[in-house]
Amino acid sequence: MATPDENSLRIVILAAGKGTRMRSSLPKVLHTLGGKPLISYTLSLAADLDAQKIVLVLGHRAQLVQSCMQDNDKYEIVIQDPQQGTGHALLQCLDFFSGFPGAVLVLSGDVPMLLPETVSGLLASHRQSGAAVSVLTSNLKDPAGYGRIIRDENTKPVAIREQRDLLPGENEVTEINMGVYAFDARFLAGELPRLSNDNAQGEYYLTDLVLAASGTGMTVTTHTLKDPDQALGINTLAELAAMEVVMRNEILTKLMDSGVRIMDPATTYVDESVKVQPDVVLHPMTVLHGETSIGTGSVIHPGAVISDSIIGEDVIVRPYSVIDNSIIEKGAAVGPFAHIRPGTHLKEDSRIGNFVEVKKSTVGRGSKASHLTYIGDSDLGEGVNIGAGTVTCNYDGFSKHKTVIEDGVFIGSGTMLVAPVRIGHNSIVGAGSTITRDVPAEALGIARGKQTVKENWAPEFRKKAAKDKEDT
Ligand code: UD1
Ligand code: CA
Repeated sequence: MATPDENSLRIVILAAGKGTRMRSSLPKVLHTLGGKPLISYTLSLAADLDAQKIVLVLGHRAQLVQSCMQDNDKYEIVIQDPQQGTGHALLQCLDFFSGFPGAVLVLSGDVPMLLPETVSGLLASHRQSGAAVSVLTSNLKDPAGYGRIIRDENTKPVAIREQRDLLPGENEVTEINMGVYAFDARFLAGELPRLSNDNAQGEYYLTDLVLAASGTGMTVTTHTLKDPDQALGINTLAELAAMEVVMRNEILTKLMDSGVRIMDPATTYVDESVKVQPDVVLHPMTVLHGETSIGTGSVIHPGAVISDSIIGEDVIVRPYSVIDNSIIEKGAAVGPFAHIRPGTHLKEDSRIGNFVEVKKSTVGRGSKASHLTYIGDSDLGEGVNIGAGTVTCNYDGFSKHKTVIEDGVFIGSGTMLVAPVRIGHNSIVGAGSTITRDVPAEALGIARGKQTVKENWAPEFRKKAAKDKEDT
């Protein structure tokens, strides 16, 4: 690491709070937005800035938060326990910037939409002005809940006052603190330990550092955002839902701009991580999660829920199908009402029809299971036809067993394939069979009770049954 100088940067992310206003047992930063925990947004923003070090302050249910995070080697974790306010949180990181000559950027784990260029702008004006503190601000029509920027008669920023501590007349102030700050590290190290908790909440407010700077004649600068949406904090579930709508619209607009046809954006849910190629059609109530990709020409019909799956080109997903952790190749069709469970690979032009469940199985090119079937732990070759009501009996109560169905096999309807079992290529299995032994290639496998027919039995039976009923 290069020797730190005045242009170097360290970042602190505050995320120790409980998120009381969420009224949830889950720590606020683990609530998801666009399918990802809130904290992951701030972490990836921090990673994009050219920082020497990143520190994440955790407290409330810190272990749970840590266990949900990735890239743990990219930042250090500092624990704040108990949580006595944003200033107290920053104080726990004192070691991390005392003696450091550069700038300390402070971000919050609950401000997920902030753009890197905004932060770079704040840092640039901070460095240019040689300020002790620089604050990202904005003017809100409804500033309720936010700390307000208090300016003197020369419009110089002198303090940040929290909503609950506002003095008479300050209620009219619409310029708010967005909770993103750049500090001169030396100023911070000197002033942090002197913060008091003499306020409405009895907490140590990091925002009091503005007064500390202005009171001693140091420079405070503000960097004002015209469009504050990106810097809005999440404090309640209602705010989270509102931001989800904003983010969802951004994701969908981007997709539509790139050539994806979305029939009803209001009911379409696509995680940011999902990749959709041009000329895909997403029908109403499509839900696409995680590491999913969809190839060009595919049509996703209403009510499909697809997670962590690769969908090739020209695939049709018919209504109300669920696909999880699977690969669907070009030209394949799934549904309606199909359930494709993890570990499934449907090869080119294969067809999985209504009320068919497939788990951890490969279905070869052009093979079909059109109705009411369970295929589990199975390997199907090419051109296989599975009749309605076929079940691979893969589980004996202790272990899972494999079914292999080779190329060109025809399985008649209502067949039970008791695994482990292998059906050789081009063989035929008679409908209604319970197959417990391998069927060789090109053979007929049939395993069902012999049918007997008793001529005229039915009318005789009915006559006798009716008489017996009369007699009783
Ligand atoms: C804070 C600011 C407020 C600003 C708003 C912008 C203070 C005192 N107020 O208020 O001026 O308008 O952000 O969104 O800073 N945290 C800890 N430890 C604690 C308390 C909080 O790590 O003891 C973390 C939280 O997890 C959160 C962040 O600090 O990520 C902000 O805390 P929060 O309680 O949401 O502050 P606000 O009331 O929103
Ligand atoms: Ca907040």
